[in-house]
Amino acid sequence: MTRVPMPKRSAGHDRPAATIAPSILSADFARLAEECKRMVDLGADWLHVDVMDGHFVPNLTIGAPVVASLRKHTDAFLDCHLMVSNPEQWVKDFAKAGADMYTFHLEAAAGPGADDWHALSPDAAHQAVVDLCRGIRAAHMHVGIALKPSTPPELVAPYVAEGLVDMVLVMTVEPGFGGQSFMPQAVAKAAFLRNKFPDLNIQVDGGLAPNTIDRAAEAGANVIVAGSAVFGAADPAAVMTTLKTSVSAAASSGKPAH
Ligand code: DX5
Ligand code: ZN
Repeated sequence: MTRVPMPKRSAGHDRPAATIAPSILSADFARLAEECKRMVDLGADWLHVDVMDGHFVPNLTIGAPVVASLRKHTDAFLDCHLMVSNPEQWVKDFAKAGADMYTFHLEAAAGPGADDWHALSPDAAHQAVVDLCRGIRAAHMHVGIALKPSTPPELVAPYVAEGLVDMVLVMTVEPGFGGQSFMPQAVAKAAFLRNKFPDLNIQVDGGLAPNTIDRAAEAGANVIVAGSAVFGAADPAAVMTTLKTSVSAAASSGKPAH
């Protein structure tokens, strides 16, 4: 059994509940526990933890030891986004550290050393990806699959259709750094997935802020990551409320995702 259940869809809504996940990449790392507590007190539903290995992306951030330390200070849902090559390598460590969600990049999962999606097909599940999904569940974490902006969304459908995935993360910037500009064209992938899978948790990550949220909400996203927009705000609670309200309004509008 996983520690905390995933958001669910309620009557009159076209997607699971709106969920706000501030990215701690934008926090002061020297005061991480305090910053996490502050965000939860201000209304954060989850905490998004960006793990980068300096190989899959050109940046280095944090690993399982930091998650283990944080877990001693918070009960919050720790939503770990692994921007790493060989994602199968860290499943046990993150489970042991107390991660709730293990989101790996589809581009990195087609086998040892893989770093693009060309070995994958929309028509059949790739065994290495299936094994990784099962391994994450066996380690009592939720399974997330992330797509870079240029990865076709059709490629993730076989795993969602087989019930192997709890969330799909649609990147709306190239992974690697906080504070980049939102790529509006990337949200078409969220719309494709929402129209196919009404109960799927769909996360968007990168450049989300009060002036970009409506586009992501109209496209059907329900889990919103925001780093600089939340941590950089004078009133983070107000920003989180704006993000959530936009998603909830789109979810109950009766309009198809687009
Ligand atoms: C980027 C990370 C994001 C990042 C978002 O590679 O996955 O989670 O922290 O930061 P903002 O919201 O500032 O774009
Ligand atoms: Zn992220």
